[in-house]
Amino acid sequence: MKVAVLYGGTSAEREVSLSSGKGIIEALNKKGHEVVGIDFHPERLSELLSLEVDIIFIGLHGRFGEDGRIQGMLDMLNIPYVGSGVLGSAIAMDKAKSKKILEHSGIRMAKDCVVSSHDYNDETFELPIELPVVVKPNREGSTIGLTVAQTMQDVKDGVKEAFRFDDVVIIEEFIEGKEVTVAVMGEKGNVKAMPVVEIVPKNRYYDYESKYAPGGSEHFVPARIDEIVSKQLQEHAVLAHEWLGCETYSRVDFIIPKDGTHPVFLEVNTLPGMTPTSLFPDAARATGLSYEDMIEQLVTLGLK
Ligand code: DAL
Ligand code: MG
Repeated sequence: MKVAVLYGGTSAEREVSLSSGKGIIEALNKKGHEVVGIDFHPERLSELLSLEVDIIFIGLHGRFGEDGRIQGMLDMLNIPYVGSGVLGSAIAMDKAKSKKILEHSGIRMAKDCVVSSHDYNDETFELPIELPVVVKPNREGSTIGLTVAQTMQDVKDGVKEAFRFDDVVIIEEFIEGKEVTVAVMGEKGNVKAMPVVEIVPKNRYYDYESKYAPGGSEHFVPARIDEIVSKQLQEHAVLAHEWLGCETYSRVDFIIPKDGTHPVFLEVNTLPGMTPTSLFPDAARATGLSYEDMIEQLVTLGLK
């Protein structure tokens, strides 16, 4: 089969995507496919048309890769690709809108407030939720532009920092607890949750360094949590994936609060990292799927 892999790109997560792309290309090569790797840039669009590939594996992360825009373009060109379509990608990329959609899903979510650069005033801003909080660009990944704020000054500095990456910023109550994630994969309307992965970062938070530096975090699969909580996480991951209109695969992040058992939803990642330190491949390995087999299965699902 002829497969094109889009990787790199122009988003803030470019470096992560270079690493995901490398892994995906190697895996597809090992499986005997004819692979064309494209460090994606808008100028390379015309190339896609002349390539005549059977399918595209989108190994991009973040803006212009994970947010539905490439997906829409590929739909118009009638080229099949792996993963969520326009709607699911665009919604899942928007943390605030995702939470609105899931409001009545029964999934617990952190209190939040959303500020937009066109009406935000640093001097008059009043935080409607209690400190500490987490300040994040609304549509960004890999904790880029994220601040854990203990004071109002931290919040204001954090908002300024987050506006560098997005004109909408989400501020959420900070929840101390165990970070866990659930990979889901399967046919449309029938995705299955993999074993829950528990993340223990070396740094205080699961930040960029903990995510991508070798040894930056430890992953426990299955997570060292109660069986009932584990089941609930898996159910909620599938529910969030479906309600947001995602397809084929995603990875759904949660925190289990220190003082409670009900997991709190963070976000759905429609193009989860596929790097050597990434979580989705670890979850797949726990189900008996090697990295190569997992990539191969995703391609098969993408062709259905
Ligand atoms: N946004 C990164 C790539 C992840 O969720 O794995
Ligand atoms: Mg993310």
